[in-house]
This record gives sequence, C-alpha cells and structure tokens, in this order.
Amino acid sequence: MDTAARARITSWCSLLLFLGLSFAQNAAEGEAGTLDVGVILNMRSLLGKMSRTSILMAMEDFYAVHHRDHATRLVLHVRDSNGGGNIQAASAAIDLLENHHVQAIIGPEKSAEATFVSDIGNNSQVPVISFTATNPALSSAHVPYFLRATLSDAAQVNSIAALIKAFGWREVVPIYEDTDYGRGIIPYLVDALQEFGASMPYRSVISQSASSDQVEQELYKLMTMQTRVYIVHMLPTTGSILFKKAKEIGMMTEAYVWILTDGIANIVNSLSPSILDAMDGALGVRFHVPISKALDDFTVRWNKRYRKDYPDDSLSQLSIYGLWGYDAVWALALAAAKVSMTRPTFQKQQKYRKNSTFVGTLGVSTVGPKLLDAILQCKFRGLSGDFDLRNRQLQFSTFQIINVVRRESKEIGYWTAKQGIFRNLNQDVSAHTYLHPMPDLNPVVWPGQTHIVPKGWQIPTNGKKLRVGVRTSGYSEFMKVERDPVTNAITATGYAIDVFEEAIKKLPYAVPYEYVSFDALGVNYRSYNDFVYQVPLGVYDAAIGDITIRHNRTSYADFTLPYTESGIAMIVPVKDNTNKNTWIFLKPLTGDLWFASIVFLIYTGIVIWLLERRIRNAELTGSFFRQLGIAIYFSFFADSEW
Ligand SMILES: *[C@@H]1O[C@H](CO)[C@@H](O)[C@H](O)[C@H]1NC(C)=O
Ligand SMILES: *[C@@H]1O[C@H](CO)[C@@H](O)[C@H](O)[C@H]1NC(C)=O
Ligand SMILES: *[C@@H]1O[C@H](CO)[C@@H](O)[C@H](O)[C@H]1NC(C)=O
Repeated sequence: MDTAARARITSWCSLLLFLGLSFAQNAAEGEAGTLDVGVILNMRSLLGKMSRTSILMAMEDFYAVHHRDHATRLVLHVRDSNGGGNIQAASAAIDLLENHHVQAIIGPEKSAEATFVSDIGNNSQVPVISFTATNPALSSAHVPYFLRATLSDAAQVNSIAALIKAFGWREVVPIYEDTDYGRGIIPYLVDALQEFGASMPYRSVISQSASSDQVEQELYKLMTMQTRVYIVHMLPTTGSILFKKAKEIGMMTEAYVWILTDGIANIVNSLSPSILDAMDGALGVRFHVPISKALDDFTVRWNKRYRKDYPDDSLSQLSIYGLWGYDAVWALALAAAKVSMTRPTFQKQQKYRKNSTFVGTLGVSTVGPKLLDAILQCKFRGLSGDFDLRNRQLQFSTFQIINVVRRESKEIGYWTAKQGIFRNLNQDVSAHTYLHPMPDLNPVVWPGQTHIVPKGWQIPTNGKKLRVGVRTSGYSEFMKVERDPVTNAITATGYAIDVFEEAIKKLPYAVPYEYVSFDALGVNYRSYNDFVYQVPLGVYDAAIGDITIRHNRTSYADFTLPYTESGIAMIVPVKDNTNKNTWIFLKPLTGDLWFASIVFLIYTGIVIWLLERRIRNAELTGSFFRQLGIAIYFSFFADSEW
C-alpha cells in the first residue's frame, strides 16, 4: 500500500506521534514516548507466521505515515508460544509483564490460551487484544481488559442456520474439536438451529490429539447414523485429518453435506491442494472483506514479504487473520498516540504487597485504563473493513458463503442479519421473493460432483440397497421389465414404476434401491400370489406392480393405498331394510313403562278419591267399579265438579 493510500484511512483518533522509525527491542521500564507491547504468537502455525508478517508490516506502514507526529510509539516484544499450550502462553505473558513491563499484549492465538492471558492482563490492567481467539465465552464483563479484534464464533451461527434452513435440512451433526474453541460455538449453534426446528441428534467430538485411526472410527460411527449434514468447526490442522479420512472412506460423495465454519473457511485458500481435493463440495461461511484498492496493494506487498520471511512456505495466502492482525496493531498505535504516556509505570498492587504469589507480584499498569478507553474509542476504516472495538469485539456485517470446488473456494452467496441469504451484494434485495423453495444462491457443486441438493438424510444401509421386485405385467403400460443381455442390468418401465419413483423422490431422505426381476425365477413362478409372497420370504424388500389387493394377500404383506382402480366391480341386490311401521313412535314406550304409567295413574286416582271422600262423602258411594272409575277420573280431572 502506498503512503497516500494509507493516509486516506480515516481516523477518529487524534494523532500525535513521536519521530523515529527504529523498531527497537529494548525495553527500558517506562521509557518516555514509547509503549511496550507484548506479542504472543505460535510461530509453528500457519496463523502465527501469517500474523507475524502482518504485524511487522503494520508497524512499518504506520510509522511511515505518522513519522512526523510527536507521540508515543509502540515497541514490540514478540514471544513465540511455540505451540506449547496454555501454560507456555501464560508464562510468556508473565515474562512480558514482569521483565518488559508491557502495557498491552497482542495475541495469543488460541482461545484456551487467551483465557489465561486475558486473566493475567486483566489483573495488571493491561489490554489483551487477540485477533484469533474466537470462543464466545472469552468476552465477559468480568474481564474488561480482553479485546477481541476478530468475530466471536457466535456471530456466524445464524448464517449457518440460515443455510441449513434454506436447503431444508432438518438434522445436523456438528463435528468439532475438543478444545475451548471447538466447544464454545455449540450452545449458540443449538439455539440458532432450534429457532426453526432443526435438531442435533448427535455431537461428534474429536480430540485435538486424535490419531487418524480414531478419526476414522468416529467417521464410521457417523456413517451408521442417518443424518448426512455435518458442520465442521475445527482449526485447519485437525480439519485436514478429518477431511482426508472422510474422503478415504467415501464420505465425500453424493448425499453428504459438509459445512465449514470460518475456522477453516477463512483460510481455505492457504490449504494444501491435497486437502482441498478432499474437501471438494464442502460449503463454508466466512467473514466478507470488502474489496478496496488499499487491500489489493497490501496483498501484493504481503505476498512478497511473506515469501521472503518464510521461503519454505509457498502456498500460504493472506487471510482475514492477517488483516485483523494488521488492523489491531494499527488501532493500538492510534490509541497509544492519543494517550499521553509520559512515564507509564507499573505500580505494585497494594493488596499483594506482602504476599509473594507469582501473579501477585506483577503490579498494575498505570496507563491501562486510559489506554483501554483509547482503544475502545478508536474507529477507523482498516484493511478488513470498519474496525471498531466499542463492544470489546469486532462487529460483523456480512458473511460470505463459499463452496470448495476444484481446489478453489467459489463464492455462492452472502448472508447478513437483515437480509438473510442472497446471491449478489449489489442486487436489489427488496425485489427478493421467497416464491422459490430453493435459496437464491449460485449453483453449488456438492460432494461427488453432483448438482442435486442432498436430502441430508439417508437410511444407513452400508452399501445395501432396497431390493424391489418387479415383473412384466400382462399390460406393458403398467410394467415392463427388460434385462440387458450384456450387463444383466434390469430396467423397468411403466405406470407402476413411475408412481414408485415419484414416491421415492418425495421422501425427505434418500433411499437407494435396485430392481430385481421376478420373471427371472422361471416358469414355475407365474402367479401374482407367488410374486407377492417373495416379500414375506425376504427375497424382496418390496414389490411393485399391478398387484390386486386381495384379502389373503394382506395377511402377509402390507399394501400401499391403491393408486389405480381395479376395474372390478360387484353387483349385489339392495335389501331395503327400512322399517315403515306407522306406530314406530311407540317403540320407545316399552311394556315396563306402560305398566308403571298405569300403576301411577291408579295410585294418583286413589289418593285423590280418599281426599275427596272426606268432603263429599255422599256422592262417592256405589259399587266398587263405580268407585274405581271415579278414582281414575280424578287422576285426570281432580278439580272438576261432576
Ligand atoms: C478485571 O479487572 C477489573 C478492573 O480492574 C476488575 O473489576 C475485575 O474483577 C477483573 N476481573 C477478573 C476476572 O479478575
Ligand atoms: C496473602 O494471601 C492470603 C491467601 O493466600 C490472604 O489470606 C492474605 O490476606 C494475603 N495478604 C495480603 C496482605 O493481602
Ligand atoms: C390366496 O388365495 C388364492 C386363491 O384365492 C390362492 O390361490 C392362494 O394360494 C392364497 N394364498 C395364500 C398364501 O393362502
């Protein structure tokens, strides 16, 4: 990048910088006008080497532009954590704080290391800026001194979920490495998938130190399960082993879906051709870097510089981590210029004065809080896009969806939180409709070089196909079976076959099948009864044809619903069974009810007769039948004079 381009980078930070270009490694305590910065990288990893080149170039570029300003300069102290893990990174941090009194730390590479180093930094009020540690759990209000100049892994889960939703997959299996980095994304992924009802029937954890045999075992296990959509969340080293094995045992073929998180997708261009071959057909999401002239210039210079620094490593290409490393140093240099740094010192912490615990003796940076504020307020347009750490981590804008095809990453679309998935950055998204069931993306080449979207689900038959019995019908429109005399391959055609194949296509998962000819069994086998009977015998898994559903056949085979009329009808006389009796309304009045009614009638009459008799004694005399008649009369017209 030329000086003019660099100068165009807008900055909200005031720039007051000291003169001088030297890249001193001396570390006199609190030397006026300098800010000691520790850098912890793993020089054995691709990321470490890439970052080192970027960071050194950032220093040179920054002070080439700002050499006339009188302000605090950064002095870098680079430490190699040597892939030694958390303890190595932590001890590098302690060494930097204790012996060089660094006021800020850049790095370390891994999330687990960052957990240690950020605690140490926080304890001494020294900002720790990592541009590679992506575990979402690292950002916490309790560790204000940890800044993430990269995206949290939680940022990408929605784009992955959108992709899974768009292609209509219902189940996914995450394959992740057993590290802080690997595990960190899982809860967020579960949440994002749950939002549209997709589930995670299994989680495949692969130890960071797994041998390729162990990886193979795990992959075979996945093969026996039904889900065929895998989300791979790993660093490239573990990922390379995984994909090579997957390719070897036939999991990079049709019906399989592999989705890479940005851990691999971000640096896919630097992977070796053999690994890219193994990954062929995989999808991935990664941070989208806006194209700019500054970026193009920088890429050219970076490539030249990197080849010079690491002549053995000719494959590596500049990745987003290199840009974030560059921008992080740039931000720190801007922040340092803003903070007046006359004699930054370390104060011994009061509470630890008498205690000589290791960390307790480190002291507290006096400029720490001011420096932290300055970094948080620093906002500028960097190589990676808008660089803004206000929320203690970078904010994402757009994700790019890529497809690994023929050793290259092909861009197939984009994702933003607002617009979801779309094909082109410049397209008018308001005109975007969801009429099409397929997502609006460039065509994807899936594993196995196919263009058909995998169903994401397969009955794990382990090579065994569904054996479907077929026979030539008396009506060849229904079914005609032919055998190729050379290859012995069986082709079946006809209406029954069309219905079957259409039904198979409608299934939400893939069922591999093959046709087996019944005609081949010989002349002794002619009847449809025998044909159907091959199913319970286990010769066929299913039989198709113009088979009539008869009662005795249903007792040993299950039939689909009939898909055509049999053409057979039955004529039977109708026996009119309707009861035309006029007295049908009397039906509910049963004998018991009639009897009870009469008994109550007489009973009521007698009661009234007895009462009436007391008043009109003379009138109620005469023969017994007359009395009974009067009593019954009373039960109807008790009140009348008669
Ligand atoms: C980090 O530092 C801040 C301020 O110095 C302090 O309040 C907080 O408790 C520290 N967090 C941890 C985990 O030590
Ligand atoms: C020293 O550490 C012990 C525990 O390790 C603690 O109880 C004690 O208060 C500390 N002393 C001082 C002066 O902070
Ligand atoms: C079903 O019935 C047919 C004739 O109606 C008979 O030929 C056939 O053997 C029967 N099949 C079985 C399994 O009973």
